[in-house]
Amino acid sequence: MTALDARPRTGATLRFPARFRWGTATAAYQIEGAAGEDGRTPSIWDTFSRTPGKVRNGDTGDIAADHYHRVSEDVALLRRLGVTDYRFSIAWPRVQPTGRGPAVQKGLDFYRRLTDELRRAGIRPVATLYHWDLPQELEDAGGWPNRETAYRFAEYAGIAAEALGNRVATWTTLNEPWCAAFLGYGSGVHAPGRTSAVGSLRAAHHFNLAHGLAVRALRGAVPAAAEVSLTLNLHALRAHTDAPQDLDAVRRVDAVGNRLFLEPVFHGRLPEDLVRDTASVTDWSFVRDGDLRTAAEPIDSLGVNYYSPTAVAAARSSPGPSAAPSAWAGAERHVRFLPVAGPRTAMDWPVDSDGLHELLLRLRDDLPGVPLVVTENGAAYEDYADPSGQVKDPERVAYLHAHLSAVHRAIEDGADVRGYFLWSLLDNFEWAYGYSKRFGIVHVDFPTQRRTLKDSAHWYADVIARGGVGASA
Ligand code: FCB
Repeated sequence: MTALDARPRTGATLRFPARFRWGTATAAYQIEGAAGEDGRTPSIWDTFSRTPGKVRNGDTGDIAADHYHRVSEDVALLRRLGVTDYRFSIAWPRVQPTGRGPAVQKGLDFYRRLTDELRRAGIRPVATLYHWDLPQELEDAGGWPNRETAYRFAEYAGIAAEALGNRVATWTTLNEPWCAAFLGYGSGVHAPGRTSAVGSLRAAHHFNLAHGLAVRALRGAVPAAAEVSLTLNLHALRAHTDAPQDLDAVRRVDAVGNRLFLEPVFHGRLPEDLVRDTASVTDWSFVRDGDLRTAAEPIDSLGVNYYSPTAVAAARSSPGPSAAPSAWAGAERHVRFLPVAGPRTAMDWPVDSDGLHELLLRLRDDLPGVPLVVTENGAAYEDYADPSGQVKDPERVAYLHAHLSAVHRAIEDGADVRGYFLWSLLDNFEWAYGYSKRFGIVHVDFPTQRRTLKDSAHWYADVIARGGVGASA
């Protein structure tokens, strides 16, 4: 019997479990703006976005969606949607600007205001401690490849937990440490833009360590009922063929993209094959006794972010010397990434909801007993307000419908999925793409900051009110 059997079905509607959490997600640097206010100092994303050529159009998060000054208006939007939960992130450089020393009360006050408003609206606050905005001073001291950053993070986690512990329902330590480590320190397409294979592996390990240390800090400071979690962007992998070389390419990508995080966090060990794959890069001596035990500090749920699958084949010729900077240490010279067929979003990402179903079933099998939450899923399209003021985004509705149906199918198949957070509430600063990509279900006209619910927002509100989706969008 699955959780779904407890609820009556009406017509063709795919109904979700009664206590399923319906949410939307955002991140501090992408929406807050107010980059220099109330004591906030630059993060690596402030620096990176100011570096010519790094972010499209020279965009920065200086103003973003001006959420810092529009909390009440944005919580009112959440209320209109009827969400049960709201996932946001806390900006470390707002709370502890240099990454050391005492907290800035004004920075914490902002999150006190936000969480108070959410709770008054009956919405559960889901807070992520790190969504990529490392204080620049810590980057200057070595950033995530430096072990000390993990201890700094645990201290900051303790500060946030002391201040907000009785207001936040779910704490997430890190958002997508794979992206932060490998795009930030490997390929360099994200802040801080460094390109070093060993740097990216060191960063990844220090993220795992930081996560475990932060879980301990949180447990010591928040009420026992608070949920503690981690969000990973796991790769749903497809082998080009069943040939052993293609399967080995998948194994390599899986090792660095997925198991480098899953194995330490859930089993207290490193993937041995990755250690072998990367032997020419590092001997992993930066992993100290006890680190993996720390990383495996028990958590209450796993957050899964999913947008599209990844298709992989063996490299065509025998591996030569490493060429361009890569996000795939240990795999880069052995694999080819292939296009996935089908429709694409404005990011040029394929629309393939089966990948989400596959991923959730893999986690059902690999991590029995670990509740799962889809903490991000959504799509960018070329949205605009038409002359009547409406924003028609049928492709996004179709994308969301397909992916929610995939989640439903996964629950029917026995995956313990407790909630779904749509990325994103608002159009926002999409990292290296700046404002050129719109992921919101609420349109933001950046010059005026006017918010307009897109058709997908009305559709999502209806889904939440009905507790499920129809057989078709
Ligand atoms: C994820 C990030 C999120 C957003 C989406 C589109 O990787 O966590 O901030 O940019 O992608």
